[in-house]
Amino acid sequence: MSNHSLLILAGDGIGPEVMAEVRKVIDWYGDKRGLNFDVSEDLVGGAAYDAHGTPLTDETMAKAQAADAVLLGAVGGPNYDELDFSVKPERGLLRLRKEMDLFSNLRPAQCFDALAEFSSLKTELVSGLDIMIVRELTSGVYFGEPRGIIDDNEGGRIGINTQRYTTNEIRRVARSAFELARRRSNKVCSMEKANVMESGILWREEVQWVHDNEYPDVELSHMYADNGAMQLVRMPKQFDVIVTDNLFGDILSDCAAMLTGSLGMLPSASLGAPMENGRPKALYEPVHGSAPDIAGQAKANPCACILSFAMALRYSFDQGDEANRLEQAVESVLASGVRSADLMQSGSGTPATTSEMGDAVIAALEASL
Ligand code: IPM
Ligand code: MG
Repeated sequence: MSNHSLLILAGDGIGPEVMAEVRKVIDWYGDKRGLNFDVSEDLVGGAAYDAHGTPLTDETMAKAQAADAVLLGAVGGPNYDELDFSVKPERGLLRLRKEMDLFSNLRPAQCFDALAEFSSLKTELVSGLDIMIVRELTSGVYFGEPRGIIDDNEGGRIGINTQRYTTNEIRRVARSAFELARRRSNKVCSMEKANVMESGILWREEVQWVHDNEYPDVELSHMYADNGAMQLVRMPKQFDVIVTDNLFGDILSDCAAMLTGSLGMLPSASLGAPMENGRPKALYEPVHGSAPDIAGQAKANPCACILSFAMALRYSFDQGDEANRLEQAVESVLASGVRSADLMQSGSGTPATTSEMGDAVIAALEASL
């Protein structure tokens, strides 16, 4: 395989710490599996703001556009709370999503057996859980115009955001959900609020259209998003693939994530249209944030970031077997009892540090050869 290019944007808070462990994994694949990557690093979020006064420079944006895949750590932190909205760390991430047109955000919520007891739900409700949330990522209320805060001319103000979806935007993310379902349990549940929103009515009709015309073999159901939230905590195993819009997806994916016990375990992939080489534009990032409360203390769990690299192996580099190898390595580390602090009951021993977790994953990869 010729070298692929990887752009690493470690970002803020625990981002750089967890990304250091991903570097070990990337190097291992180069040394032991002949998968060589040209890795470059750059700044995003608060780190980019500190250096350049913007959460993402045009140069970094261009590098991201050119890379075979982007690995992102996390953005944001209390130092940046008072910044103007336009230069907040999150704007860097949103610009990457929008300009790379990463419309399909895959957020798996998988419950590792070794961690079922950490879920806030009863073990039998979550053990074996394997849901894939497909969140539309480049449109909807996150980007719709008009938006802003204006005077109402009566001494008050009006905050405005617009929920807006086109046929094409709905159909392309629906296709990505149906494609995934075919490789899983062949079920898609689409969530919106067609009972109160016109954009929800269109969403439902277009998802149904894609189903009827292109994927009649996949089982499709529709659910109002509020009921979806309720069903996720009532009986989560009823779901296989969930497809939903940008804002509902943001909320429902956090809810689904917590069912699995720890945010520190969950990866994500954001995929766009195929590039010239046939691979999708892609950005991979852990679902967790920058966790400023534990940054710099070697406590962070690097597994979500490592598993995000596994998704890159699968979705950007056609290395499904190697992705499985890495996922199994992480699972065996958990089963062996090596745990970062987020995966331990308090008072039950000494937690592994971030780099000890990374080293344990490397040892498990070695053992897999
Ligand atoms: C997420 C995050 C982001 C979002 C923030 C950091 C802008 O919550 O990726 O889920 O709202 O999309
Ligand atoms: Mg979120």
